[in-house]
Amino acid sequence: MKSCTSIIIAATWAALAWRISAVPAAKSNKAPEPKYFREHPYDVHYDNRFAFTLLDDPEQRETIKILVQTYLATFRDLGIQTWLMHGTLLGWWWGKKVMPWDYDADVQVTEADMYFLAAYYNMTIYYYKYGAMEEGRFFQLEVNPYFVHRDQDDTSNVIDARWIDMHSGLYIDITAARYALDHKEGEGVLYDKYGHEYRDTYVFPLRDTTFEGVPCKIPYRYEEMLEAEYGKKSLTNTVFHGHRFDNETRSWVPLEEKPEEDL
Ligand SMILES: *[C@@H]1O[C@H](CO)[C@@H](O)[C@H](O)[C@H]1NC(C)=O
Ligand SMILES: *[C@@H]1O[C@H](CO)[C@@H](O)[C@H](O)[C@H]1NC(C)=O
Repeated sequence: MKSCTSIIIAATWAALAWRISAVPAAKSNKAPEPKYFREHPYDVHYDNRFAFTLLDDPEQRETIKILVQTYLATFRDLGIQTWLMHGTLLGWWWGKKVMPWDYDADVQVTEADMYFLAAYYNMTIYYYKYGAMEEGRFFQLEVNPYFVHRDQDDTSNVIDARWIDMHSGLYIDITAARYALDHKEGEGVLYDKYGHEYRDTYVFPLRDTTFEGVPCKIPYRYEEMLEAEYGKKSLTNTVFHGHRFDNETRSWVPLEEKPEEDL
């Protein structure tokens, strides 16, 4: 019996060794890389290594807010330019806050800064005691090693880095804005790995503003960027996702309780 087990182990090792040695060959063949960041099987907004229990609202919402605040404050301290994008930029448009149905945030840095982060700040941990937190918490900055892959074919690694609340596992996504090298529109086209593309003149020079009460930056032509991504109506419709925008408080408030399918 004993020798049988060890043969199986030896065979497994042989198979593993073969797989390890097969990786570099596969890489040069441009096979997609394995997915780097692992999310919780029941909720993709949580990092699987840190999420032991999933939060409920309003705690979850409060944590997203704190993630954004601590992220912006940290990058400001590190001297790294970062700006709001996508749903987070839309949240800025409406009241300069995370929208209540957003369980993550999208922020961007340049490709050069992503290299800088990877070289000097990967896996660095920061301590914050912020807002209404009773105890301080640790946040981890983690860079996906596959960020060096510039093509858009690696769909499991579109996120280049994350800012993670190590207490709950909730995180925000950081992507690099890369310059397309031979774009049909010529020079100056930026892209991310989701497939978004925009001229650099839409992004730079960045504008200074605030978000969730913290200084931050947004793209220069934010309005056109939002219109292009979400449509003109997204900037004027005051009813969205089961919420109504309250002009007085500059925030989204839930509509009256409605059946699930109406939301
Ligand atoms: C960051 O550190 C982690 C843990 O050591 C490692 O797996 C990952 O490849 C690193 N990322 C980069 C960009 O080097
Ligand atoms: C919303 O409030 C602002 C002032 O905060 C005001 O200028 C604007 O007219 C208001 N809009 C509506 C639709 O009430």
